[in-house]
Amino acid sequence: MADDRTFLTTRQGHPVRDNQSMRTVGERGPATLENYQFIEKITHFDRERIPERVVHARGAGAHGFFEAYGTIGGEPAAKYTRARVLNETGVKTPMFVRFSTVAGAKESPETERDPRGFAVKFKTLEGNWDLVGNNLKIFFIRDAIKFPDMIHAFKPDPVTNRQEAWRFWDFVAMHPEALHMVTWLKSPWGIPANYREMEGSGVNTYKLVNKDGVAHLVKFHWVPKQGVRNLTTQQAQEIQGKDVGHATRDLYDAIERGDFPEWEFCVQLMPDGPNDHLSFDPLDDTKRWPEDQFPLLPVGRMVLDRAPSNFFAEVEQSAFGTGVLVDGIDFSDDKMLQGRTLSYSDTQRYRVGPNYLQLPINAPQAQCPFATNQRDGQMAFYVDKGGADAHVNYEPSYLGRGLNEAPKVEKEYHQPVEGHLGRYQPTRVSDDYAQAGERYRTFEDWEREDLIANISGDLKACPAELALRVVWHLWHCDQDYGRRVADGAGIDLEKAKALPLLPGKPAPGENRKGPTYTD
Ligand code: HEM
Repeated sequence: MADDRTFLTTRQGHPVRDNQSMRTVGERGPATLENYQFIEKITHFDRERIPERVVHARGAGAHGFFEAYGTIGGEPAAKYTRARVLNETGVKTPMFVRFSTVAGAKESPETERDPRGFAVKFKTLEGNWDLVGNNLKIFFIRDAIKFPDMIHAFKPDPVTNRQEAWRFWDFVAMHPEALHMVTWLKSPWGIPANYREMEGSGVNTYKLVNKDGVAHLVKFHWVPKQGVRNLTTQQAQEIQGKDVGHATRDLYDAIERGDFPEWEFCVQLMPDGPNDHLSFDPLDDTKRWPEDQFPLLPVGRMVLDRAPSNFFAEVEQSAFGTGVLVDGIDFSDDKMLQGRTLSYSDTQRYRVGPNYLQLPINAPQAQCPFATNQRDGQMAFYVDKGGADAHVNYEPSYLGRGLNEAPKVEKEYHQPVEGHLGRYQPTRVSDDYAQAGERYRTFEDWEREDLIANISGDLKACPAELALRVVWHLWHCDQDYGRRVADGAGIDLEKAKALPLLPGKPAPGENRKGPTYTD
């Protein structure tokens, strides 16, 4: 390896004896094309950037480990899941975590008001498990087909390249399901003090499956041992004036001084099935599962104890996806989860390249044997170890050569599915105002004040008819919420209240049950 060399070389291993001057004909003369050393250096530099992530471009990462407690709610974890990472004790599963903001570009300030991404890669003995979530436990929308529109509205204006409040609220006004997330986001919870003092959550609903093939619906959450701390807009502005990378700095500094951040990993569980008796749809990611009905049950802990040795190789090239599950953890029919699962690996094949899973940061851990018949493609630099019989890169083989299928699991989980193919209103129960109102009422006074000031400030920059509709929505979440925002933004509340229902949307408080096709 070239790593132990003490002098500079080219990538071809040739010593670089002068790194200060190009080769030229004479002191002032033209440069020549045969100057390999110069060309290698400059042309590699020309290619140093890969596309930044289309969302969550600004981030920081850290390595660590996960340890399972082996129990869930006082019972053996194996009762709920056959995933060894959750039911075996005494195993330190290596992990990599990437925290991020959503809408900002790669070098944007970490003080921005934005959900924080909380993406976790467990390198388990049974293969990788990625949990790609956020700090607010819910999301703006519940049908994946809306994601590009949402992100377009939240990212900069295509004409001016400026983020505009009116574009954000214009989208939200047409999506009452976003009001719950927006209520969190515009409060101090929209600016966590740093990455260590924030919660995390898988947001979407998954399933835990045990060895008998019995499934439970599950939500995953990270509870920080450091506690939760958020910032007001003013506090964030003061930090941003001095440091646009304060959260990365905070994370790295804590690890360096041995103050390793730690989170407890918890689940909320409910039996698999339609759960019709609930006042919300457990597959609707714009709703929280109330913790008094579905308590957080600890299953293990994660500790981050090592900063990356190179930002680009480990953080920028890391690739997380919701499709990356281990046996014993399964998909639910949450439509966002299903849509996301296509999107992540698709963008990574473009962003990093088709062999992105060969990179050390993304490959399974060394103790987990992996072997595919995938070959070639840009930047392939090894053939899987399991392909010892290098002639047979196909399966099955009559001669019994090459790789064989893995043994079957004892009881596969088979979800019954029946229905009419069509486009549906996404949930069977959609009171999109109730949880937003509850959230408003449970905030502390200073959080409510910051929330009101932030939304009122935004609405002053919005066209009058849009501001009226936003106040109408907020008033239906909670009358005090709507009134205070109207007062703060100088909006006539009575005029807002008199607006007709939004065409095509359920009335506030209305629960829709049964199929609602749109075509
Ligand atoms: C990143 C798509 C919803 C959390 C990304 C990326 C894409 C994407 C394309 C860039 C990935 C990369 O370049 O490696 C989508 C789509 C969604 C969706 C299509 C909805 C249908 C969500 C939701 C959450 C979320 C609901 C939170 C629970 C994240 C996080 C990252 C990310 C944390 C950054 C991962 C990292 O650190 O590399 N998303 N997303 N996304 N998304 Fe989503």
